Amino acid sequence: MLKFDVAAARQQFPALALQDEGKSRIYLDNPAGTQVPQMVIDAMVDVLKSKNANLGGYFQTTRDAVTVVDNAHQAMADFYNAADPQEIIFGQNMTSLTLHFSRCLSKQFKAGDEIILSRMDHDANVGPWLQMAADVGMVVKWLDFDPDTYEFAEDALEKVLGNKTKLLAMGMASNCTGTVNDTAAFAKQAKAAGALVYLDAVQMAPHYSIDVQALHADFVVSSAYKWFGPHQGILWARKTLLQETFAYKVRAVADSDFGHKFETGTQSHEGMAGCAAAVDYLAHFGEGATRAEKLRSAWANLSAYEHGIALQLIEGLKKFKGLTIRGITSANAMHRRVPTVSFTVEGVQPDKIARHLAGDNIFVWSGHNYALEPINRMGLMDKGGVTRVGLAHYNTSDEVDALHSSLHKFLT
Ligand SMILES: Cc1ncc(COP(=O)(O)O)c(C=O)c1O
Repeated sequence: MLKFDVAAARQQFPALALQDEGKSRIYLDNPAGTQVPQMVIDAMVDVLKSKNANLGGYFQTTRDAVTVVDNAHQAMADFYNAADPQEIIFGQNMTSLTLHFSRCLSKQFKAGDEIILSRMDHDANVGPWLQMAADVGMVVKWLDFDPDTYEFAEDALEKVLGNKTKLLAMGMASNCTGTVNDTAAFAKQAKAAGALVYLDAVQMAPHYSIDVQALHADFVVSSAYKWFGPHQGILWARKTLLQETFAYKVRAVADSDFGHKFETGTQSHEGMAGCAAAVDYLAHFGEGATRAEKLRSAWANLSAYEHGIALQLIEGLKKFKGLTIRGITSANAMHRRVPTVSFTVEGVQPDKIARHLAGDNIFVWSGHNYALEPINRMGLMDKGGVTRVGLAHYNTSDEVDALHSSLHKFLT
């Protein structure tokens, strides 16, 4: 296996070299959005400079734009290990894609049908489905997690799944607790009961490989700005399913256009080029005959590094009196989480901690971070939520030490 060289990776990100008033920026805000390597910036600039046109014409720029769009669909098919680039749908972001699909899917549901939503999810995979349920008159059931272990019990789905269940929507990894869910097992169960499965991979995709062939799901969606690309959402769904699913669209787009019928209007071609470049950036950390294989090997490599710095972060946080980590902490369970670590400190508002860290140029988020259900479930909504520290593969052990030192100044 290739050895991951964090210094070499960092050199590719112009933003990581920036300083403010002589202080280096320490980006621990990654679950809200990552920084971008030069090759992604270059790919986007190239489209805007020399390939800027709409699709379907006869002249040079329009032909180049078609290549950009086709390459981006192929890159995302490799990213998700999809069988066909026509199964890839680009959109503005995960939220917009989910609002769009919830609206399209609502056409096949009726009053009294049931959907299952997760108490661990970001509101982007809850709010759209709640609105769909209200519009159609569907019944909402909740997949609940254990607020002591931050995981779903194995039988959590059994308790709510029934013959009226039409859809299970759940996250692969939480933007709040950091838990990685066994979504393949839950999806298999839901499929066996005849339900559709919609998986939010937004927080999983920056840390582990996604393989739609192994997930048993119908829809998988993520956002490239969380994995070193531009602001762009990308959804995968099986071709046959896309064919059958109703699309809200303009008349000029044919029903037979699979994924394309869901890509409303003119897309961000520069965003697509950036996505493809981000996929290539990730693939260059891996080995294999194809880009899809390289991606899988790259993630094994990157995850191993991330587990090390995540454990360092957690062990350091554990030393603070009154601090509770709101997620999995066992040293041997780093593979059951992403390196997104939320915590609370008795008697200290989370936003005060985030503000203090900003003073040392350490970037973290505080509050509910749109994870309304998990924050409510943990009883933290009226306490200001959590402080959330989120690592990516470009973070270093020294940066984790700097966070601990800065917290030490403030909390002791
Ligand atoms: C788990 C999860 N799902 C969905 C979203 C929404 O993504 P987007 O900003 O692309 O709409 C986020 C954003 O933070 C998230 O963390």
